[in-house]
Amino acid sequence: MNERVTIFDTTLRDGEQAPGIALDPDQKVAIARQLAKLGVDVVEAGFPVSSPGDFEAVTRIAREVQGPTIAAMARADSADIEAAWRALRPAESSRIHIVLATSRLHMEHKLRLSPEDVMAAVKRSVGHAAEYTEVEYSPEDATRADPDFVVAVCQAAVEAGARVINVTDTVGYSVPADYADLVGRVVREVKGDREEVVVSAHCHNDLGLAVANSLAGVEAGARQVEGAINGIGERAGNASLEEVVMALTVRRDSFGFDVGVNTEEFAKTSRMVAEMTGYPVQYNKAVVGRNAFAHESGIHQHGVLRERSTYEIMDPTSVGLRSNTLVLGKHSGRAAFKHALAEMEVSLNGPSFETAFAKMKEVADQTGEVTRERLQAIVDEVVSGDEMIRDVVDSFL
Ligand code: KIV
Ligand code: ZN
Repeated sequence: MNERVTIFDTTLRDGEQAPGIALDPDQKVAIARQLAKLGVDVVEAGFPVSSPGDFEAVTRIAREVQGPTIAAMARADSADIEAAWRALRPAESSRIHIVLATSRLHMEHKLRLSPEDVMAAVKRSVGHAAEYTEVEYSPEDATRADPDFVVAVCQAAVEAGARVINVTDTVGYSVPADYADLVGRVVREVKGDREEVVVSAHCHNDLGLAVANSLAGVEAGARQVEGAINGIGERAGNASLEEVVMALTVRRDSFGFDVGVNTEEFAKTSRMVAEMTGYPVQYNKAVVGRNAFAHESGIHQHGVLRERSTYEIMDPTSVGLRSNTLVLGKHSGRAAFKHALAEMEVSLNGPSFETAFAKMKEVADQTGEVTRERLQAIVDEVVSGDEMIRDVVDSFL
């Protein structure tokens, strides 16, 4: 049995902060139920003080969704903490997630607080929340902050009762080696006297490095990773939860950790989040994109038809898809063409097969992808041509 990495889903909080997304309480409850089926350890359900709708959503999720710990965000402010706790109270297992920035930029320009004020506010607010339930503290913009200050504030948070410290790359500025350095320092230097401190990775995707940074965090000692389904979130989004989990799962040989996620639920969860948020999934998105298990070129199709693992590192069924797809296009070869015909229960041989194959290539050149409907039209044309020739020959006999 390996050590576990805890999976913290923030689709309903950070994910919902993506421009244009507003989920109503019914939608949030439906997604939270699906996340529970997916088996994530923590569902961050929202930011209760932010709106009556979010308060209702968090309260209903706390009451109706069993399995994961239900978390709610709060600033280092007593009204936020009271609202978070009122919403979370019905949950079997809950967590208040307190956020207060630690970079000079944020302290000076956004908070207008000195480092001493930030330190005092963290102690006060974490202490307040810890009277109610488990506490996670996020030193916002940690990757652009003075690392000594980050470590000192996190230590103060732990002494005030925080059990989880979330190392935030709020603006997606970090690169894997730097992020690993910061996480490593927090892991080594922030100590609890009763319970072990869990260090968490929370990365944004502004440079396309959210997943790479999260995994570097795990290698440096983080034992919780935060992410959102389909990678949605502020600006370029959060670390994509399905990518982090599949990387840890497929490359278990390299990382050596278990995750308690039912990965077969990813396809369904991704579709549900895309539909409810109105954010489509890009075709070539890893794990859940339309093309993640699609093969178009003849060489690849031939390989996959003989042995799936020649060009697939994951079994599509492991993420909830029925099978891979062989797309007929200009690069496809005869093996995939024959396979597509066989799936339609059509058998063409000799010249008819070659004519149909040549027509498929012509259509592919014009349209990019030869759909099943277009293939059927090609087959009909070739077969009716054959019948006409047979009729002419028959009339001479
Ligand atoms: O990116 C971030 O810093 C956050 C915090 C609010 C946790 O989402
Ligand atoms: Zn974030």
